[in-house]
Amino acid sequence: MKCKLLENIKINEDYYLLKFSREGIKAEFQPGQFVTVKLPQQVPGQRLGIPISIYQADTSTFTLFIKILGEGTRILAHAIQDTELDILGPLGQAFTLLTNKTVLLISGGVGYPPLRFLKDKLKDCQITWIHGGKFASDIFPCDHAYTEDGSRGEKGLVTSDLRDILNNQKFDMAYSCGPNPMLKAVASILKDYDIPLEVSLEEYMACGIGVCYGCAVQVVSNDEQPLYKRVCKDGPVFHADEIIWE
Ligand SMILES: Cc1cc2nc3c(=O)[nH]c(=O)nc-3n(C[C@H](O)[C@H](O)[C@H](O)COP(=O)(O)OP(=O)(O)OC[C@H]3O[C@@H](n4cnc5c(N)ncnc54)[C@H](O)[C@@H]3O)c2cc1C
Ligand code: FES
Repeated sequence: MKCKLLENIKINEDYYLLKFSREGIKAEFQPGQFVTVKLPQQVPGQRLGIPISIYQADTSTFTLFIKILGEGTRILAHAIQDTELDILGPLGQAFTLLTNKTVLLISGGVGYPPLRFLKDKLKDCQITWIHGGKFASDIFPCDHAYTEDGSRGEKGLVTSDLRDILNNQKFDMAYSCGPNPMLKAVASILKDYDIPLEVSLEEYMACGIGVCYGCAVQVVSNDEQPLYKRVCKDGPVFHADEIIWE
C-alpha cells in the first residue's frame, strides 16, 4: 500500500518521527504490531522491507519512530514530506491489552516505540516505565531512565535497580522490548517475582511475512525435537516463558 508521508520530525541526530496517511489501510493497528517499509530506491544488499513498530495510530494516520542504524533506516529517516512509500501492514501479533491493572514497562533503545503505543492503549492502568539506552540521545519520556555512559538519568542498565523496584511495588503484568540480552536479563529477574511478562523481539528479518524462516527463534517444546517460531508471523510478541534465551 502506498502511504503518503505527512510529516517528518527530527527528534535528534539519530531519531526521527514519521507520520503517514493510512488511507486504504482498513485493519486496526494494535500495539506490538509492525509494518515493513520498502525503500524508495534500490540499495545493494538491502531487504524487501524494513520492519518498524507502530508508535502511534489513529483513524487517519500512523506514526513510526525510527532510529538510524544502517543505510536503510538512514534513507527512511531522511524521506521528505509528501513522499509515497510502499508500506505493508499491520503485521504480527500484538501485546495483550489489560484494563485496571498495575503494569511495568521496560524498554531499551528502539524498544521504546511499541511500548509507547501500548501505554496509550492500556485502560485505567497504573503504569511504571523504565527505559534505557547507551547515550542521552536514546532517552525519551519515562519514569526511570538509565544510560550506559551516565549522561542522562541513572548510570547503568534498565536492570540495575529492577529488583529494588520490584521489592517496593507489586505488578500484575510486565511488557518489554529491546535487545535480546536485555530481554533475557529482564525475563530472568521477573521470573523470580512471578510476574507474567510479554516481550517483543527485534530479530533481524528478511521477508517479514513468514516465508523465509530467517527470523526463527527457538521456543519451548514438549517434544524432543527443537521447535522454532517466526518472529515476523508468530511474534514479534511472545510470552517470555515461551522463549529459549541464548
Ligand atoms: C519487529 C521489529 C520492530 C522494529 N521496530 C523498530 C522501530 O520502531 N524503530 C526502529 O528504528 N527500528 C525498529 N526495528 C529495527 C529496524 O528494523 C532495524 O534497525 C533496521 O532493519 C536496520 O536496517 P538498516 O538498513 O538501517 O541497517 P542494516 O544495514 O540492515 O543493519 C546495520 C547493522 O545492524 C544490524 N542489525 C540490523 N537489524 C538488526 C536487528 N533487528 N537486530 C540486531 N541487529 C540488527 C545488522 O546486522 C548490521 O550490522 C524493529 C525491528 C523489528 C524486527
Ligand atoms: S523474516 Fe522471513 S519468515 Fe520471518
